[in-house]
Amino acid sequence: MREMNPPERIQTSRLTLRRLAMEDAEAIFAAYAQDTQVTRFLTWRPHQRIEETRAFIQMKIEAWDSGTEFTWAILRKDGELIGGIALRRQEFKMDFGYVIERARWGNGFAAEALQPLVDWALAQPEVFRAWAVCDAENLASARVMEKVGMTREGVLRRWVLHPQAGDTPRDCICYSIVKTTDDQPATPPYSEPAARPPQG
Ligand SMILES: CC(C)(COP(=O)(O)OP(=O)(O)OC[C@H]1O[C@@H](n2cnc3c(N)ncnc32)[C@H](O)[C@@H]1OP(=O)(O)O)[C@@H](O)C(=O)NCCC(=O)NCCS
Repeated sequence: MREMNPPERIQTSRLTLRRLAMEDAEAIFAAYAQDTQVTRFLTWRPHQRIEETRAFIQMKIEAWDSGTEFTWAILRKDGELIGGIALRRQEFKMDFGYVIERARWGNGFAAEALQPLVDWALAQPEVFRAWAVCDAENLASARVMEKVGMTREGVLRRWVLHPQAGDTPRDCICYSIVKTTDDQPATPPYSEPAARPPQG
């Protein structure tokens, strides 16, 4: 399979996505990594020490180098770091995760950062599915996925742990965009089971 990594720098009208680097640790720690509201529906707990942020970044740097996960810092025009966004590759699928610092919520930044990654993923000939999930209570994130044109597929019950929201796995909403082909035409995202044939 052809394996091309995404660009390390992506420009949108108001934002720059730039490959995450260790120098971002202070800014990320200050902007959102410690914030219990930002991390409420994430898989990781808020960081208490900057060393945790550095270890997190180190993991993401290695994941980029190994070609499994690509993480960018989200910067405004003035260079201020306001969030992060990731794309993960699994064979013919790519999925996404994103975070914006609380002071910048509600300005369309998450959707603006996500759109080019979805577009890039779907422009890859070997990718047939761009998808993401969010906690069933994370309506802002669900809306971000709708804004970039993803379709709600349904609820994945007990899908993932969001440790701040509870001790047991959480229900998540799954969104996607898929490519159709002659041998796999579009299936409605949620279909009732076929009716049973009449008995007797
Ligand atoms: C989810 C998150 C990334 C959204 O970032 P953002 O930059 O505010 O997103 P956008 O402005 O592009 O879009 C948010 C949309 O959600 C809507 N929204 C916000 N809170 C909402 C709520 N409680 N119910 C319904 N819609 C809501 C906003 O109105 C906006 O939609 P609109 O543009 O149609 O008005 C941000 O809230 C965040 O970082 N949350 C914490 C981390 C997180 O949960 N990440 C996602 C993990 S799956």
